[in-house]
Amino acid sequence: MSDESTVIAEIGKPGIAAMVAAFYRLVRHDDLIGPMYPDDDWEGSEERLREFLWFRIAQDPTYVLKRGHPRLRMRHMPFRIDAAARDRWLVLMAQAMDETGVSGSSREWLDNFFFQIADFMRNQPESP
Ligand code: HEM
Repeated sequence: MSDESTVIAEIGKPGIAAMVAAFYRLVRHDDLIGPMYPDDDWEGSEERLREFLWFRIAQDPTYVLKRGHPRLRMRHMPFRIDAAARDRWLVLMAQAMDETGVSGSSREWLDNFFFQIADFMRNQPESP
């Protein structure tokens, strides 16, 4: 079973940074979720996701020192996140992982991890 230590060993901090950079290059131009992000702070968004992931994966305290407890569901409440937005986020992240060569056990762990969080962020009732 892969876990966080697999990701630390196989991908490491530079791999996570490359993946997150690739993700935001894609998000910027995305018609569905791109407009949700503040257009004047792409570097800030990239930094927050990168530091959150390294906190969650490797217990690096940088994110929490800057932002406090993640409270991600609450922090996503201002945005309309339905199944389509969730799926788009996941597709773009999968593309970013493909581009930066995230594969094998780390990829399995991250795919599952991202799905769990993205699904938890949904805050819109689905239409029938
Ligand atoms: C489900 C689809 C998602 C959408 C549409 C979405 C959208 C956004 C937006 C618009 C922001 C505000 C911009 C910013 O401060 O960076 C944000 C912040 C953030 N998102 Fe997401 N997000 C999604 C899923 C996720 C997932 C799966 C994760 C983690 C694996 C995540 C982690 C974060 C983090 C760490 C922040 C910054 C929180 C802060 O410190 O203020 N998001 N997201």
